[in-house]
Amino acid sequence: MEQRIGIIMNGITGRMGLNQHLIRSVLAIRDMGGLPLVDGSKLMPDPILVGRNKQKVEEIAKRLSVSRFTTDLSNALENTDDIVFFDSSTTQMRVEILKKAIAAGKHIYCEKPVSENLQGALEIARYAKQKGVKNGVVHDKLYLPGLLKLKRLRDSGFFGRIISVRGEFGYWVFDGEMIPAQRPSWNYRKNDGGGIIKDMLCHWRYVLDNVVAPVKSVSCTGQVNIVERWDEAGQKYISDADDAAYALFELEGGIIAQINSSWCVRVKREDLVTFQVDGTLGSAVAGLHNCSTQHHVNTPKPTWNPDQPQNINYFDHWEPVPDNTEFKNGFQSQWEEFLRHVVEDGPWKYDLYEGAKGVQLAECALQSWKERRWVDVPEIEV
Ligand SMILES: NC(=O)c1ccc[n+]([C@@H]2O[C@H](COP(=O)([O-])OP(=O)(O)OC[C@H]3O[C@@H](n4cnc5c(N)ncnc54)[C@H](O)[C@@H]3O)[C@@H](O)[C@H]2O)c1
Repeated sequence: MEQRIGIIMNGITGRMGLNQHLIRSVLAIRDMGGLPLVDGSKLMPDPILVGRNKQKVEEIAKRLSVSRFTTDLSNALENTDDIVFFDSSTTQMRVEILKKAIAAGKHIYCEKPVSENLQGALEIARYAKQKGVKNGVVHDKLYLPGLLKLKRLRDSGFFGRIISVRGEFGYWVFDGEMIPAQRPSWNYRKNDGGGIIKDMLCHWRYVLDNVVAPVKSVSCTGQVNIVERWDEAGQKYISDADDAAYALFELEGGIIAQINSSWCVRVKREDLVTFQVDGTLGSAVAGLHNCSTQHHVNTPKPTWNPDQPQNINYFDHWEPVPDNTEFKNGFQSQWEEFLRHVVEDGPWKYDLYEGAKGVQLAECALQSWKERRWVDVPEIEV
């Protein structure tokens, strides 16, 4: 038996909306014949694509064999047969757009950050609660195989007492002059909602909270390193948003985490993001897919001697954590969980309040940078 679910998708002409949410998630579920439900039926997504540019939306719809598309969001929201609204358009419009969708009684799923500021994020979370609609925010990094393995290690007690976390995130984003930039230009303009702190600190909030321990305090310094870039049309613009951030976090239990985030760094590490967790009984290093461990008993014993060449290869004593399961695209896994939550009340943690926590941490980090001090991260009142 097949059950249809109508999904209004806004922002699918953008990078994330098109690639991760439409193609790799919603259409991937359609193309596998629907999402199997507990009662044995299959849930078949029926998206309607919404965009401001008719030509663009129509081209995408035709190319991907999606029958429904429109440029009229208000009209799409009136259709009571479409019960889910998804948004991956610009962060600056999100609260306003989500408000409309919640008012129309839709269940809400959206990209991060939920809002430009904590006030907006909480306002929308409270409104969704008041209206009784189900809601969720993308927490994609938690579904990466590397981080799932890291969480598995923590949950099994592998680390003993966790002492510290070191995260390195970033790669070189071209300025667009000779080689086109590989990320949208708005990310590098303050006025358009750009900046690496707003962008990445919401990820680091849920990664640390869920994979290591809850974040209690932050000290952060940002930088604007590349001050001129070239946009999608080849036009030069002033890039005034932070493109690197160096943050220290204090977590519950006194764990210290430090995460460097930068669009101005060249990669000489295993992956575009890596996290090293050191504990009394063992350590692990995770990238997007892989994770390797070194147990206490496999730990080599270096002695500091600058007069002699290094005779230990420090890469030799690490063991890969096996997959032991098949990992799907993380965005698809989260879509599947959200849709199950909507139609059969399946378990779901990553609601708008969880999303608001990410916005909160980014705000605290920006405050820390501005005031050059540690900032405590208070509990959010639901
Ligand atoms: N989860 C992640 O890892 C991740 C990564 C990158 C971006 N994002 C988030 O996804 C969202 C989109 O980012 P992107 O990289 O796809 O950007 P993008 O520039 O490629 O896409 C932006 C989309 O928003 C639409 N849009 C822009 N201004 C609009 C307006 N005024 N009204 C309505 N629609 C408008 C555009 O047409 C486009 O469809 C942002 O909120 C961003 O923070 C999340």
